[in-house]
Amino acid sequence: MKRLLTTALLTSAMALPASASELRQMALDYFEPLPSTIPQMPDNRVTPEKIELGKALFFDPRLSASGVFSCYSCHNLTTGGDDNMSTSVGHGWQKGPRNSPTVFNAVLNIAQFWDGRAEDLKAQAKGPIQAGVEMANTPENVVATLNSMQQYRDWFANAFPEDADAVSFDNMARAIEAFEATLLTPAPFDAFLNGDDLALSDEQKEGLTLFVDKGCVSCHNGVNLGGNGYYPFGLIEKPGADILPPDDKGRYAVTDTAADQYVFRASPLRNVGVTAPYFHSGNVWDLKVAVQVMGTAQLGEEVSDEEADKIVAFLHSLTGTVPTITLPVLPAETATTPRPTA
Ligand code: HEM
Ligand code: HEM
Repeated sequence: MKRLLTTALLTSAMALPASASELRQMALDYFEPLPSTIPQMPDNRVTPEKIELGKALFFDPRLSASGVFSCYSCHNLTTGGDDNMSTSVGHGWQKGPRNSPTVFNAVLNIAQFWDGRAEDLKAQAKGPIQAGVEMANTPENVVATLNSMQQYRDWFANAFPEDADAVSFDNMARAIEAFEATLLTPAPFDAFLNGDDLALSDEQKEGLTLFVDKGCVSCHNGVNLGGNGYYPFGLIEKPGADILPPDDKGRYAVTDTAADQYVFRASPLRNVGVTAPYFHSGNVWDLKVAVQVMGTAQLGEEVSDEEADKIVAFLHSLTGTVPTITLPVLPAETATTPRPTA
């Protein structure tokens, strides 16, 4: 009996996190808190004028051919920066092939999209506007639309004073990138990394310890706990076709290299508690299940219910405070604004 008790005590002692400061030291080996100022882009200086213009563009459905879809349709800033659907619905009510990732903190990812095919947010923003299943528009039509409204011409001229012809598809993408750079969501985990011992509950601290000890941290690290490296999804054991559909081969489509089949960017995990459903296929709705899928697929290990609960509790400490965003008032269309197409 005494031995049983000792074992039980030892087990629970092992499950308890180290002291908060030891845990913080260990965590700082792998993670970084969010920057406290808006990150600057080397080739796109972020200015208040660009941010305001980018915000208007982000919310403007007239960037889509139908006049129905804005960036905000699939990246709803009130519900985690995504659309909370398995895969997004776009132009003509078509269902796209992949789940929409959050735009919050995306500026800190090394590359954009599940397969990292866009090198930055500027390159990324041009994609959905032209994608047939998203906004189905053309750069020429977008520029004609923007040029048809004096307010947009003024906003572009103020944001890009060095350009004689400020209204351009490239500058549209630059302004959207500047706005997205402001979408940082500081979370309790940042407060913990910055020195607040009480920012995480004991359960969250145990979850953090497990996240590191089990090896999740080998792929989900850095400031976004992911978004900075590529790995085969199903490194140890391939998940079923519902989770990993065979026809989406991930980075293989980008690099055309056999070794990149089913390789995806390790998902950034900030705000993962509010961005269900999960994985690029968006077929897992329960975060605990997603954690357990990761255990078997990436680590070859069953994550027990109790462990998964603690890891999920830790992941909730990554849900951050959304910056205050005042809705932009968009300029009214004019006689020369191209009309929406079906
Ligand atoms: C991916 C922004 C419009 C659905 C992304 C990402 C960003 C972004 C930053 C990458 C995030 C990451 O990799 O972590 C924008 C902007 C838009 C826009 C600025 C407007 C210009 C849309 C629309 C839809 C949509 C209208 C839905 C119809 C998606 C999907 C992905 C994605 C499904 C993942 C695609 C893939 O990995 O292949 N978006 N988005 N987005 N967005 Fe958007
Ligand atoms: C995706 C957690 C281990 C690579 C995810 C997601 C979660 C997660 C919750 C889905 C995020 C979303 O859909 O927004 C974890 C946990 C782990 C772990 C708790 C430890 C138990 C790993 C390891 C690797 C890895 C060790 C690399 C070998 C990936 C990749 C994705 C992903 C590539 C994207 C999968 C896709 O394309 O759908 N992870 N992960 N993860 N993780 Fe992990």
